[in-house]
Amino acid sequence: MKIAIVNGPNLNLVGQREKEIYGEQTFESFIAKMDQEFGGVEFVYLQSNVEGELINFLQELNKQGDVKGILLNAGGYTHTSVALGDTVAAMAKPVIEVHLSNVFQREDFRHVSYIGRSTIGTISGFGMESYVLGIIKLLNA
Ligand code: DQA
Repeated sequence: MKIAIVNGPNLNLVGQREKEIYGEQTFESFIAKMDQEFGGVEFVYLQSNVEGELINFLQELNKQGDVKGILLNAGGYTHTSVALGDTVAAMAKPVIEVHLSNVFQREDFRHVSYIGRSTIGTISGFGMESYVLGIIKLLNA
């Protein structure tokens, strides 16, 4: 059984970028840790800075029978992308919106999500643990 983790723009810089907001851990080390902790799960991971690549990947995941669900951190596209929102709306699989930071404690423009109307829920503000909580939810979904 597979769980997909899809990260949008600038999330490749986590570990170097604004560490006071996003923490020190890189996604490479986090995914390796998840592989160990959740032995029966195969994690499929994509990070892209390109909106169309995220859309194509999500459409492909939606066709794959063994993908149980998707954790999507669309980064800045969360707050701007009608197209990504439409992609998520078209998906049959459960999608959880995930953020490292608590977007509601930050600038007003981060309080808007084009993704959230079509997800089963949003987890925001717990650093990498936001993803762990999302994995647990998808396993129980
Ligand atoms: C983010 C929050 C977004 O507002 C921001 O643009 C990001 C990261 C988060 O994980 O906290 O790039 O999605």
